This record gives sequence, structure tokens and C-alpha cells, in this order.
Amino acid sequence: MGNLDLHSKPFDRSTIAKLEIFEDYAQAWIPTFVMQGRPSIHIFDFFAGTGYDELGVKGSPIRILDKINSQVGNVFKNNTTIVVHLNEFEPNKREQRKFELLKESCSTFLKANKSLERAIQIEFYNEDCEELFPKLLPLIKKNPSLVYLDQNGIKFLSDQYFLELEKCKETDFLYFVSSSYFWRFADLDAFKGHFQIDLEEAKRDPFKFIHKNILKELKKRLPINSSLKLYPYTLKKGTNIHGIVFGASHPRAVDKFLTIAWKRNELNGEANFDINNDAPSSQLTLFGKKKTKLDLFEEKITKL
Ligand SMILES: C[S@@+](CC[C@H](N)C(=O)[O-])C[C@H]1O[C@@H](n2cnc3c(N)ncnc32)[C@H](O)[C@@H]1O
Repeated sequence: MGNLDLHSKPFDRSTIAKLEIFEDYAQAWIPTFVMQGRPSIHIFDFFAGTGYDELGVKGSPIRILDKINSQVGNVFKNNTTIVVHLNEFEPNKREQRKFELLKESCSTFLKANKSLERAIQIEFYNEDCEELFPKLLPLIKKNPSLVYLDQNGIKFLSDQYFLELEKCKETDFLYFVSSSYFWRFADLDAFKGHFQIDLEEAKRDPFKFIHKNILKELKKRLPINSSLKLYPYTLKKGTNIHGIVFGASHPRAVDKFLTIAWKRNELNGEANFDINNDAPSSQLTLFGKKKTKLDLFEEKITKL
């Protein structure tokens, strides 16, 4: 489970959708604390990858740097230091080629953006997230933090990570979850050991709702008085269903995420396709967006 190498081929559409949501959220999150003049704020990318895909499309770490770069004037003006924590680790590989590529990509980006280099501090890690997460948790708890967990698979959604993030009051987080796994591997014992959620319940609706239903079950794991709010964004990739889980305690943070989600899909604000069959198919593109006049015009021409 979960050993697919995303960087050995070009990012597909759903990966790009995920990365755009990640970066849009960074864009919206950074000013919240910078404008308050907080001395330091932290961004954690626990599964950073190499920086770019095979075709040079930016991955999460470079997108994060890009978003800080676009606001570097305010960062200086408010005397905030942004600490960016980037981790990349290839399990079972002696040579950590991707980690070296990550450092190279960031170093080249910083050389080309000198003021960014002065505005931020980057910490690189080459560790299994399982070991690194508990080490960095005190730092996450102590500071305004934005946490990305762009895992392959589902493992890091289990209680030992998820419920720890729930306790962090100034932390917003975005998980990637391969939700199809919950559907396909739910009966395996190894799987059951990780997740104390009602999978029968999560599987009661059609497959396309698995991500949304997993999130409903996760909500039941939260302490009764929890202020954490969770929102799903389902990503359809071929026949698979993946998704983002967004979590934050502050209503303004939730508002920012929902604005981003609705801007991406005006039909439902929760998926990269028409998950609720809200629109007649003749009015939709493949990815659930309403057809523009140009789309309709092109269709007409093709039919002639
Ligand atoms: C889905 S990819 C992340 C992609 C990245 N966010 C990007 O935009 O390019 C997951 C990454 O985590 C790495 N990885 C796999 N298992 C890991 C682990 N246990 N701890 C840390 N990193 C891991 C993989 O090598 C892979 O580069």
C-alpha cells in the first residue's frame, strides 16, 4: 500500500488540483499571522517530494515558497520570520535521491529570490514521518502552524497523528487521503489495527462518497468539546477516490478554506466533479465545472 512514486511521471489533473488547493490555502493563511506581527510562524510539509514533477511543474514545497515570496514585503514590514519545515524520505531506499533533489530545488529557487532567502528559515529533514512527527509536535503546538500531510495512502490519518493535531489550537492542517483504500482494504487486520472507525457505516453509500463518509466517521473520534472543524474535498482520479481533509479550529480559517473550495467548484464546493449530480450532464465538463460559452461553442463546431 502507498508506495507509488508520484515524481517519476508528470503530475495528473487531480494531483494538480490538490496542489492548487494547498497553495491557495497557504496564500490565505500567511497574512493572518503576519499582519498580527507574530514573531515567527511555521509551515510544515511532512511529505515534500522533490520540488517539481518530471515536466518541471511545481510541487508543494516550491508552491509554499512561491506564496511566501509573493508576500515578502509584508513579512519584512511586520518583522515575522517564517520557518518552513520540509521533510522527504523514501522508505526502504538507502540512497535518498529525492531528498537531495528537494534541497537542490529549494536552493535554486532561493538563489533566484534573494529577499525570500532573507525572510525565511528552511529546515530540511530526511526522516520517516512516523519518527519526525512526534519530534516536531511540540513546535507545532507552540506556534501558529500550517501543516501539510501529503502522504501516499492513509496511515497518517490514524489517531496518533490526527488526534494530536486536534489538540493544537493555532494549527490548520491539510491531509491528502487515498480514501479508496478504506473501501478496498478495510477487511485486512493490519488496516483495522490503525483505524478505530466504523467502516461499515463509511461504506453504506455509493463509492464516490467514501472520502466524505470517512470524514464523518473521523468527526466521531473527536473529543466531545472539540473546537476542531473538519471539511472534505473529494478528488476523483480515474476510478479512484481520494481527497483532502482540512482541519482548523478558528471560524475564519474555515471560511478561507470554504471560499477556496467553492471557487474551484461552484456546483458543490466539495469535489473536483459533480459528486451530487447537481447539474444535467450536458451542462458539465469532465471535472464538474459548468461549461463556459467557449466550451459549448467548441462542442458545436466539433459536431458540424
Ligand atoms: C504524495 S508524495 C508528496 C508529493 C509532494 N507534496 C509534492 O507536491 O511533490 C509523498 C512523498 O512522501 C515520501 N514518503 C513516503 N513515505 C514517507 C514517510 N514514511 N515519511 C516521509 N516521507 C515519505 C515519498 O517519497 C513521496 O515523495
